Amino acid sequence: MPTSNRPEPVRLAVIGGSGLYRLGLGPVTTTHQVNTPFADEPVDVFEEQTAAGPVWFLPRHGEHHTVAPHRINYRANVWALHSLGCNSIVAINATGGISAGMIPGRLVIPDQIIDYSYGREHTFITDEHSLAHHIDFTNPFDPLLMECLAGSVKQARLEYRLGGVYGCTQGPRLETAAEIRRMYRDGCDIVGMTGMPEAALCRELGLRYAMLALVVNRGAGLGGGEISLDEIRQVLVQGVDGIRIVLRHCCQMLLKPA
Ligand code: HPA
Repeated sequence: MPTSNRPEPVRLAVIGGSGLYRLGLGPVTTTHQVNTPFADEPVDVFEEQTAAGPVWFLPRHGEHHTVAPHRINYRANVWALHSLGCNSIVAINATGGISAGMIPGRLVIPDQIIDYSYGREHTFITDEHSLAHHIDFTNPFDPLLMECLAGSVKQARLEYRLGGVYGCTQGPRLETAAEIRRMYRDGCDIVGMTGMPEAALCRELGLRYAMLALVVNRGAGLGGGEISLDEIRQVLVQGVDGIRIVLRHCCQMLLKPA
């Protein structure tokens, strides 16, 4: 069989978080209802025709934000995207800010994760154990996608930080002030509830994965009072426009042939 050195063409999926319930970069051409071994109900994935090519979109909390972080069927979602042939995933995540500069409105492309979540179905591996099951996860995010996101945010002239540690808590409650202080000591820059096990499941299936996080509040105890959900909603509404611009650039970079 002749082999080719050409890289595999990118088939890009976006997983939308709080505030991003439709991609909105072009018309939806197909709504895929994907059956998976992990759920009785199919997973809805929306295929959009963007100017640069097709992109698949999955809102992880559902179209109407009815699925809480600890109840998301991460395995079904990742499996569905993989079975549609997607090989690259950009995840959009609303987060709290912990370290200096992580203020509401800031975009962050993290390069590391600490997982504080528990009790979630976090692996596809259920058969007899073998050494091969210990996937490497030293760097949980894909450098090519991170670079593409950074280039796209720059092009959009938005404030951002490339690199940082994303701490994933269980939710759905927000953290206590002491928990956030501990996360700071651990080295976390931002905190969210949905990055894991999503990132690890993508790695298990060999999918490229990167995160574009939007800081929507200061972490508990850091903002001089209680966390205001109204303020979070306002930042989300404003931030989502910028995220769409970034995603549009990202599609151009990844999907258009050079
Ligand atoms: N903590 C956890 N998840 C979040 C936060 C937070 O402060 N803000 C948005 N998602």
